[in-house]
Amino acid sequence: MSTPTVVVLAAGKGTRMRSALPKVLHAIAGKPMLGHVLDAAAAVSAGRLVVVYGHGGDAVPGSFAGRGIRFALQEPQLGTGHALQQALPHLPHEGSTLVLYGDVPLIRPETLTRVLSHEGALCLLTAILPDPAGYGRIIRDASGNVVRIVEEKDATAEQKGVREINTGIIAAPNTALRDWLGRLTNDNAQREYYLTGVVPMAIADGIAVVTEGVGATWEIQGVNSREQLAELERVHQINRARALMSAGVTLADPARFDLRGELICGQDVTIDVGCVFEGQVTIGADCRIGAYCVIRDCIIEGGTHIAPFSHLEGARIGHDCRVGPYARLRPGADLGAQAHVGNFVEVKNSSIGQGSKANHLTYLGDAVIGKDVNIGAGTITCNYDGANKYRTVIEDGAFIGSNSALVAPVTIGRNATIGAGSTVTQEAPPEQLTVARGRQTTIADWKRPVKASPGK
Ligand code: UD1
Ligand code: CA
Repeated sequence: MSTPTVVVLAAGKGTRMRSALPKVLHAIAGKPMLGHVLDAAAAVSAGRLVVVYGHGGDAVPGSFAGRGIRFALQEPQLGTGHALQQALPHLPHEGSTLVLYGDVPLIRPETLTRVLSHEGALCLLTAILPDPAGYGRIIRDASGNVVRIVEEKDATAEQKGVREINTGIIAAPNTALRDWLGRLTNDNAQREYYLTGVVPMAIADGIAVVTEGVGATWEIQGVNSREQLAELERVHQINRARALMSAGVTLADPARFDLRGELICGQDVTIDVGCVFEGQVTIGADCRIGAYCVIRDCIIEGGTHIAPFSHLEGARIGHDCRVGPYARLRPGADLGAQAHVGNFVEVKNSSIGQGSKANHLTYLGDAVIGKDVNIGAGTITCNYDGANKYRTVIEDGAFIGSNSALVAPVTIGRNATIGAGSTVTQEAPPEQLTVARGRQTTIADWKRPVKASPGK
C-alpha cells in the first residue's frame, strides 16, 4: 500500500437534507457517509487522512475522534478549491494527495487504486453519464487531451452537450498542488474558488493530466437529499446481498435484506425476507433465519433455525437450536446445542444447557440452566428486587411447572420437579417434587349468594 494523503471534502452545507445533523453524518447501512469514505481511503492508503468540515460545530470531528484523523475547518465555504486550501497545513511536502468527497459514500477502493496509479500526474476520475446536467464537464482538445473542466453554470450550450463529467475525485503531487491552490481565483459564475482550476495550471506546468473512468456510476453518486440517501442505501444493500449470495447464502429476496455491519455466513444459510442484521453477526452452515428477524452482534452455530419475528442481540446460540417465533434474546443469552426458546420468551444474561427447552411465555434473567431442563409456560425468574440482581440456578433435568415464579437467589436441584403455579423462594431439592402454592380445597355445602328480592 502506498502512502498518499487523503483529503475528504465535507464542508458543504447540505441544505436540501433539511437536517440539524451535518450531511456527511447521515448514515448508509447504519454508518455515517463520511465513515464509508474514510474506510475506502484507509483501504488504499496508509497515509494521513484529513477531513475538511464546516457545519455542525464539533459534530463531525467528534464522531470520528480517536482515529488519528486530522480535521480542518472551512468557514465560510468558498468552493472546492478553497476547501482543499484549508487542508494544506496537513499535507506533507512530498508525496501525493487524493481528494474525495464526504457525500459520495460508495466509492470503491479498486477505483481509487487506479486513480492513484499515475504518480507525478494530475489524475481526474471521470464518468460518462447519459444525463450530465449539474456536473462539471471534461473539455478535451482534438487529440483527446483534457484541457480544462467547465462547471455547468459557466458552460456554453455546446459544452453542456459533453457527457464526460468530473466526479470531483482527483489525485495530484503535493508540491504542485500547493502552488496551484495558492493561485486559484474566483472569477466565475458562482464566485467560488474552483478546485477544477488546477487543470490548466498543470498543463502550463507540463504536468501530465490523465483520467480514469469509474466502474459503476453509483460509485460517484453524491447525496444532496434524503431521497438520494435512500437510493444509495438500496444500491449498497443490493451489493451486500449479491456478495452474500455469491458466497453461498440463499436470500428469499435480495431487495428485502438489510445489513448494517458485518455478516459472516457458512454454506447453505437461508435468510427469509425483511431481516435486519446489525453489528457483527456470524451464522453457521445450514441455518435458517425466518422472516422479519432483527439480529445484532450474535453468533449462531450451524443447523439452527430462527423462526420469524425474533429479536436477538448479543447472544450466542449453539448448533441445531430452535428459536422463536417471537423470541427475544438479550445480551449474555447463551444457548447450548439443541436448546429451544419459543414464542414470547425473553432471555437475558443466562445460559441454557444442551437440549433444554423454554417454549412459551417466559422470562429468564441471570440464570444458569443445565441440560435437558424443561421450563413450563409462564415461568419467571424474579432476578431483581428493585435494587440488586440475583442468580437462579436450575440444574440438569429439572422440570419447572407452568406459571412458576423462581425468586432469586435460588437453586432448583438436579431432576427436581416444581409444581405448576409455585412461587419458589428456597432451594428445591434434587429428584423431589416441590410445590409452593395454596392447596386446592372444596367446600361441599357452599351456596352462591342470591340477590335480595325487591320490596322486602
Ligand atoms: C464539484 C465540481 C464539479 C463536479 C462535481 C461532482 C468544482 C468547482 N466542481 O461541483 O466539477 O462535477 O463536484 O459532484 O470542484 N465542498 C466543501 N467546501 C466548499 C464546497 C464544497 O467542502 O466550499 C465539498 C462538499 O461538501 C462536497 C464537495 O465538496 O462534498 C463537492 O461540492 P458540491 O457543491 O457538491 O459540488 P460542486 O462544487 O457543485
Ligand atoms: Ca457548489
